[in-house]
Amino acid sequence: MPLPLEHHVPLAPRTTLELGGAAKHLIDVSNEHTLIDALRWAEGENSPVLVLAGGSNLVIGDEGWDGVVLQISMRGIEHECTGDRVRVRVAAGEPWDELVAHTVAQGWAGLECLSGIPGSAGATPIQNVGAYGQEVADVITAVHLWDRRSEQRRVVSKDACGFGYRDSIFKREPDSVVVLAIELELHIGGEPTLRYGELSRSFEGRNSPTIARVRDRVLELRRGKSMVIDPDDPNRRSAGSFFTNPIVTRDVAEHVVAQARRHGVERDVPQYPVDDQHVKIPAAWLIEASGSRKGERHGAVGLSTRHALAIVHHGGGKTSQLVEFARVLADRVQQRFGVQLRPEPVFAGVRW
Ligand code: EPU
Repeated sequence: MPLPLEHHVPLAPRTTLELGGAAKHLIDVSNEHTLIDALRWAEGENSPVLVLAGGSNLVIGDEGWDGVVLQISMRGIEHECTGDRVRVRVAAGEPWDELVAHTVAQGWAGLECLSGIPGSAGATPIQNVGAYGQEVADVITAVHLWDRRSEQRRVVSKDACGFGYRDSIFKREPDSVVVLAIELELHIGGEPTLRYGELSRSFEGRNSPTIARVRDRVLELRRGKSMVIDPDDPNRRSAGSFFTNPIVTRDVAEHVVAQARRHGVERDVPQYPVDDQHVKIPAAWLIEASGSRKGERHGAVGLSTRHALAIVHHGGGKTSQLVEFARVLADRVQQRFGVQLRPEPVFAGVRW
């Protein structure tokens, strides 16, 4: 079978930010054989490889990708029930939210809080996607991948994935593996997870909600923050959270509190304990408390009107403008609070 090879393919329409140049070559990878052939072809051409799936967490440079883009499109969901548990194997190219909707409809608990997240299933272990009190590390049992160094298929058990907050071994070595499939264990007829304050508060004083009700509520919350893809939403072109929430020592957190007081910031500093010595401070709060405003615009990019952690492209812009604006936001935070923000999306063909 010849490789499904295309040339000079615009990448902007394949990302939720709708920014960036073209791929020199693009190969649609719908099965493992194509993946292996595509990687060999890229090596023969001495071309760098970029693995692209849903494009929802990706910033592509204005010059595009001077190499081969592998568009991951393997599909398939299989499951096996044992007692009150179900093991689900999901191919990397499955759209994540369709998977969540499917599992919730079956009454399988474990993914309900991860509703409405754009992107594909295979991308979720890389940065350990999390939201509203759940993260994929809670339910993943194994990741099937192609190891580009040994040129072999490998199955990595959950404990070997090195999961942390928005982190995994795969994120630290982005060029060495391609995720083929993930395996999850869900709870048949299980209770929903109500751990995130904003979510659990909406059910206070009521009977325990079903997982379907929790999915609906999470979708409502996300919609209110423009964090679901809606063609009519003016904030729709984004990569979700643009920065991770910094984890700082308690000393640094005290400095943040003192600086906030000095600058007359009205809202208290939100802090979430991580361990005895560290707390997490929401990057959205730091951005607003350092003087940036929701809806603030810099040409064709700006801050979402609904959430201070989403940088939005209004159309007709450039990646360079987006990165410049993101740096302005990060510099304001650094100057006022001495805290460094780190971008959450993957950067390709452009540096942070
Ligand atoms: N906040 C502000 N201004 C805003 C929004 C939020 O000051 O405009 C402050 C508030 O104090 C709020 C706190 O930030 O209580 C937390 O906000 P939110 O609950 O919206 O969550 P987040 O920390 O901004 C994280 C994830 C999201 C995930 C939500 C819900 C990261 C980087 N982001 O956002 O994930 O949906 O929690 O669990 O951890 C993503 O990764 O792309 C993403 C959207």
